[in-house]
Amino acid sequence: MTKLRILSGMRPTGKMHLGHLVGALENWVQLQDDYDCFYMVADWHALMSEYQNDTYLIRKYAYDNVIDWISAGIDPKRSTVFMQSDVPEHVELHMILSTITPIGWLERCPTYKEQMVELKDKDLSTYAFLGYPVLQASDILLYKANLVPVGEDQIPHLELTREIARRLNYLFSVKNNNPPLVPEPEAKLTRFPRLLGLDRRKMSKSYENAIHLSDSPQEIAAKVQMMFTDPSRLKKTDPGHPAECNVYAYYKVFADRLTDTLSQDCHQAKIGCTDCKKNLADLLINIVKPIRDKRAEIEKDSHYIKKVLSLGAEKAREVAGKTISEIHKAVFG
Ligand code: TRP
Ligand code: SF4
Repeated sequence: MTKLRILSGMRPTGKMHLGHLVGALENWVQLQDDYDCFYMVADWHALMSEYQNDTYLIRKYAYDNVIDWISAGIDPKRSTVFMQSDVPEHVELHMILSTITPIGWLERCPTYKEQMVELKDKDLSTYAFLGYPVLQASDILLYKANLVPVGEDQIPHLELTREIARRLNYLFSVKNNNPPLVPEPEAKLTRFPRLLGLDRRKMSKSYENAIHLSDSPQEIAAKVQMMFTDPSRLKKTDPGHPAECNVYAYYKVFADRLTDTLSQDCHQAKIGCTDCKKNLADLLINIVKPIRDKRAEIEKDSHYIKKVLSLGAEKAREVAGKTISEIHKAVFG
């Protein structure tokens, strides 16, 4: 039986952190056993928000991110790991989909409105940024992906992708009594508890409040010691409120087995925050260590990642080229 196809992507706008690990990467690794997986560095999408900054950083983060993907268990022999801009077919399909996507669909997209407000320091009132979901739809439909593992924030983009797919199929094929050109993909939700930054704000590179997968044990220990705890617990003898504590939230995500005891000990002031954080730091160091060790090994071969991406682009282009010629034919005959 042929495996269902999966495609997902990440924008190379910063280093990978623990939020990416539990929110996406661990899931990506698992899915490799049962699906035909395509994992993509969305560098065009990164350019849409970074075009005014040092754009050469996009390449730097792209390579850096792929090292972390592989270090965390993505196997380029089983999965197709590639960079969006290495496969020009994305841009071509983007053009075709642009012709059939009503502007209203894009203007109404909730992520569009949110991002414009959230990223106030950037001028996102560009032609390309409005079309962000159209490029994302191209990424997905080009590989005829059945499932797209994403976080909840991406659901509107998946909905748009399905609508665009339906319209593409109808206008260029179904209307003429031919079979659909592409399947309507489904979101495969990553049910992850939202991991907040060290300061309890959203984890974000602009706040510098994340633990990176490439951080050293010393860096992790120092970052954990800076974490916010229950704000009402001033002395070690005060009873703590785990529900109000971000350190506890990290335990929930990374060591749920310990949380019953910790909750009691904290309530009864049997454990102090310094010790509690020290234990969390040890836990996180142990989670990050194998990834970091593998990273050091990969970095010994300075060409390795380039080779992975060039092979990945070759594999991706085989599939993408086929889809594009089918669609081209359906459109222009
Ligand atoms: N928009 C996605 C994000 O910011 C990244 C992305 C680009 C993507 N193309 C994709 C995700 C295709 C899934 C499928 O997280
Ligand atoms: Fe949070 Fe741990 Fe302190 Fe309780 S003991 S408030 S869980 S850091």
